[in-house]
Amino acid sequence: MKATATAHREFTISKIDKRIYGAFLEHLGRAIYSGIYEPDHPTADTDGMRGDVVDLIKELDVPVVRYPGGNFVSAYNWEDGIGPKQDRPVRLDLAWHTSESNEVGIHEFADWCKSVGTEMMLAVNLGSRGLDAARNFVEYVNHPGGSYWSDLRRQNGQEEPWNVKLWCLGNEMDGPWQIGHKDAAEYGRLAAETAKAIRAFDSSLELVVCGSSHSGMPTYPDWEATVLEHTYDVVDYISLHMYFANHEKKTGNYLALTHKLETYIDTVAGVIQFVKAKRRSDKDIYISFDEWNVWYHSNQQDRQILNGGDGWPHAPALLEDIYNFEDVLQVGLIINTFIRRSNVVKIACIAQLVNVIAPIMTERGGPAWRQTIYYPYYFASRFGRGTALDLAISCPTYDSEQYAGVAYADVAAVHTEDDGVTIFAVCRHPDEAVDLDIDMIGFPGMRIIDHQMMVHDDLQATNTRDHQDDVAPKQGAGAKLADGKLSVSLPPYSYQMIRLGR
Ligand code: AHR
Repeated sequence: MKATATAHREFTISKIDKRIYGAFLEHLGRAIYSGIYEPDHPTADTDGMRGDVVDLIKELDVPVVRYPGGNFVSAYNWEDGIGPKQDRPVRLDLAWHTSESNEVGIHEFADWCKSVGTEMMLAVNLGSRGLDAARNFVEYVNHPGGSYWSDLRRQNGQEEPWNVKLWCLGNEMDGPWQIGHKDAAEYGRLAAETAKAIRAFDSSLELVVCGSSHSGMPTYPDWEATVLEHTYDVVDYISLHMYFANHEKKTGNYLALTHKLETYIDTVAGVIQFVKAKRRSDKDIYISFDEWNVWYHSNQQDRQILNGGDGWPHAPALLEDIYNFEDVLQVGLIINTFIRRSNVVKIACIAQLVNVIAPIMTERGGPAWRQTIYYPYYFASRFGRGTALDLAISCPTYDSEQYAGVAYADVAAVHTEDDGVTIFAVCRHPDEAVDLDIDMIGFPGMRIIDHQMMVHDDLQATNTRDHQDDVAPKQGAGAKLADGKLSVSLPPYSYQMIRLGR
């Protein structure tokens, strides 16, 4: 089976905002406690942060991390996480039915972000709280000094402000499960007034307003239209979330779900244009896809804790999906979609980063390792920065049970910042290779400098504590660049990255 494409430096989609390779960390399960923070761990630093986890995250080169939630933020008092640790209150977390010790708060998280080399993206609580707590938090975090909250930060050991640029106005406020859930008009008004107050403090801050929790919500996409009508002038991004599942164990259907993702992004982009036109505005709003991942493997095992069966445990093993090889393909497809939609998607956060539906797993007192999905995220974050190319691809398709015209070869290409080209390709065909030819007409004088491939004879294969490398990339073979044409064979159910340079 053959597929063809053309790459030219002038055929571009958009400059990619590197923040599409962002991640998310919530006070949920073992993401924070025994994920990034474990004072008794042999690799812990003086702040109690696990060194082995820091190393893995540095390897990923994560540009931004969203914190502290998620559903958690909607009943969170940020003040509980400041001051001497022994004085911090233990609280009941209503979102996940657990106890929160508050040993990690904004100071610990900010120091950790510095050590992994990432920026913070902070969410304020617009569920149980509102404008006042939000503006105080922003002042605590960003004001140099000479005011009540900034001086308290200095008293607590942080002289310089952290200058966090990116702020989320609550989380999934359309969801009835959210503490302090609101309808679109209620939330839109609150978000607008909170945004105004934050902007009165510093008009250069970037604000993300909540869109729908997923495109299956009954209020979608009216929610987006109403919320944006209230907030258009005072926010910069609207958030989208989507989780992927293969409950039915039908790989062809599962790997076609990125069609739903594309439609979701395109629809919200359309709603943005609608509100822009309605308001006769010159301003553009972009998408922050600040929660995405595969999430279903752990659903059954989580049920008991989430139904309150085990009381209020501290840092239980919640949402610990063990990813398989099939999920490598899905994550590759999702990231390819963000690259091809980089004209509207400016921020995207894999949810989450450690232990909780995450590319990195840890054992308490034991090792940290890479889950299968670590790799497509790693390759894109490291080698997918630059300008997205419009490839004009032609490829045979199949029909899944939900979507028609699903391409067997899914390809994204990036003209990199060092004038190379990186190609990410996923083959959705179950038993036939796709021979892909890309005419590199706009990129003379290139050679293949790297070729990585992921294939496995078992779609269900996983990486575990004792078998950490069962699913791992290997050097690709057989790609050729001759007479300005790149030819590569994509084996059935495979992921590949090919880098061209000089
Ligand atoms: O990432 C897990 C949860 O999924 C988040 O807390 C919430 O925002 C979403 O529903």
